[in-house]
Amino acid sequence: MAIMRLDKFLSHMGYGTRKEVKDLIKKGLVEIDGKPIKKPETKVADDTTVYVEGIPLNYVQYEYYLLNKPQGCISATQDANYPTVMDFVFPIRNDCAPVGRLDLDTEGALLITNDGKLSHKLLSAKHHVPKKYYVEVENKLPGDAKERFSQPMEFEEFTSLPATYQAIDDTHAYLTIVEGKYHQVKRMFERIGCPVTFLKRVEFGFLNLDGLPTGEVRELSSEEVEKLQSY
Ligand code: URA
Repeated sequence: MAIMRLDKFLSHMGYGTRKEVKDLIKKGLVEIDGKPIKKPETKVADDTTVYVEGIPLNYVQYEYYLLNKPQGCISATQDANYPTVMDFVFPIRNDCAPVGRLDLDTEGALLITNDGKLSHKLLSAKHHVPKKYYVEVENKLPGDAKERFSQPMEFEEFTSLPATYQAIDDTHAYLTIVEGKYHQVKRMFERIGCPVTFLKRVEFGFLNLDGLPTGEVRELSSEEVEKLQSY
């Protein structure tokens, strides 16, 4: 259990900036146990039910979402030119962010959370979280693609770890990689002479998009969060 100031409790819960929530508190609109609390510095436990204008509010520390990212949005919390992935998620807190990035024109599974420790762990190279992509390419996929992706490929800033390739037909395949370097999948297919025309991440670790339409988001269950934490 954590103890924090009332103004911090409310601003974490999306009730505005510290200044805005201080005003709410000073106006007597915030109550605990039926009594208005007028001092923003009042200490409250995170399991307290706080009433704001009569509406009960419980503290949420962490939020975890899986988004099926559509094309045309940026994997960031803000951008001057494009919509961001945060336009598709409605978190309670204002400190949620995507775990890693998918390109502007890439679709698929993207985790969004404010759990910085988990995010860091899932992105760190040593944890080798598998990421499976569905790929459509120009040109005919070569017969030795499986062999070539299973060997290290050298790029300017990294050498790829063995990747798992599954052909679907001449121009469609799945590739599972355990890293997440810049444009990695596109660069790997380019290397075998097949520029990517469409890319979708269909699995992130054990999480898949089962039944989640493009542009939709769902909250992770506590079992899923625990499983992610054990990577
Ligand atoms: N590899 C890419 O090339 N693009 C992505 O968005 C993800 C992986």
